Amino acid sequence: MSERGDSVEIAPEVARFDPRDAVPTLAWIGGPLDGRLRLIDQTRLPADCVLIDCTTVGQVWEAIRSLRVRGAPAIGIAAAYGCVLGARVRPTSPDAVREALHTAVERLRTARPTAVNLFWALERIGQAADRSHARTAEALLTELHTEATAIESEDRRTCRAIGAYGATLLRGLRGVLTHCNAGGLATADYGTALAVLFTAHEQGQALQVYADETRPLLQGARLTAWELQRRGIPVTVICDSMAAHVMRQGWVQAVIVGADRIAANGDTANKIGTYGLALLARAHSIPFYVAAPTSTFDPTIADGSQILIECRDPAEITHGSGRPTVPKGVSVYNPAFDVTPADLIDAIITERGIIQPVNYDQIARTLRESTRPQAHQA
Ligand code: MRU
Repeated sequence: MSERGDSVEIAPEVARFDPRDAVPTLAWIGGPLDGRLRLIDQTRLPADCVLIDCTTVGQVWEAIRSLRVRGAPAIGIAAAYGCVLGARVRPTSPDAVREALHTAVERLRTARPTAVNLFWALERIGQAADRSHARTAEALLTELHTEATAIESEDRRTCRAIGAYGATLLRGLRGVLTHCNAGGLATADYGTALAVLFTAHEQGQALQVYADETRPLLQGARLTAWELQRRGIPVTVICDSMAAHVMRQGWVQAVIVGADRIAANGDTANKIGTYGLALLARAHSIPFYVAAPTSTFDPTIADGSQILIECRDPAEITHGSGRPTVPKGVSVYNPAFDVTPADLIDAIITERGIIQPVNYDQIARTLRESTRPQAHQA
């Protein structure tokens, strides 16, 4: 059952793909009225390359909740398409579509609490419905689908821009450490933190990447290593606990990560373990960079203390490898994210340029140039 008591719907597997093929992380197949959302099921990588098709908002909710689709921008895009699936269950009139959309939005809001891109995307779809003068249900659904498509294609451009800006910070470096997965799998395409590495690689820079495995769900080992290997970028997976040792050897000259929500002052929520890495980087005089689109900023919160941190099922720790790894009855704490204070972040790389130093004024200046809607709540 979902948090609202709805039964959980799991999208069926519809195809397998060859990992050498360029398969989009998520794609809308078909028209606005009869189409479906196709996703790579990221819970099954790297062992199985499987595509699933979501045809209901419940399936999109479950896919986000269970991390079949994950990473802040990808969650937002999936939710936007989920709105279209939810809104079209009552295609009798524009008002009926708006009512169904409202129900879908309220459901999707509960999928995961930390990544602000989810709430940002839901708000964009809601605003598209509010400003529409469509006279038929079909016309309104087409407009909602157009907005979802716009969110997806903007993300593609955003990731390329982040890559181009960020690569300028890596010039001359040999080794970089990253955490979790902020790659093409976490976005429409190309990624944020990994976009920077991809661009540097495409520009001919020889980089050795160290990927934290990222306990407990291993996004670094399973997903980041998969993406880097596919692009021919040398990658070495390390356990999270090895980062200090690697830094002390002098093997990395920068750390670069993604973000799930950035407060007005620059405090940044990202995958659990990021804060510790930032402390380690500071202790070793290694620059610590965050790469994120402006849709990941939440100017409605002053600092990171107001970011809601998702706590996930203890089973991810007690049975992470499919068999018991913790004695039965022992309590487990499983926060999915932590908050890195702004003063540990040397720069934030956005599609609008590099924010450096990271502080309220610099962030406000960058966001003022943006057309993003304001005021969204978890
Ligand atoms: O729990 P996940 O896998 O959704 O966590 C993802 C991250 O923490 C990413 O670093 C973040 O969403 C940025 S993705 C471009």
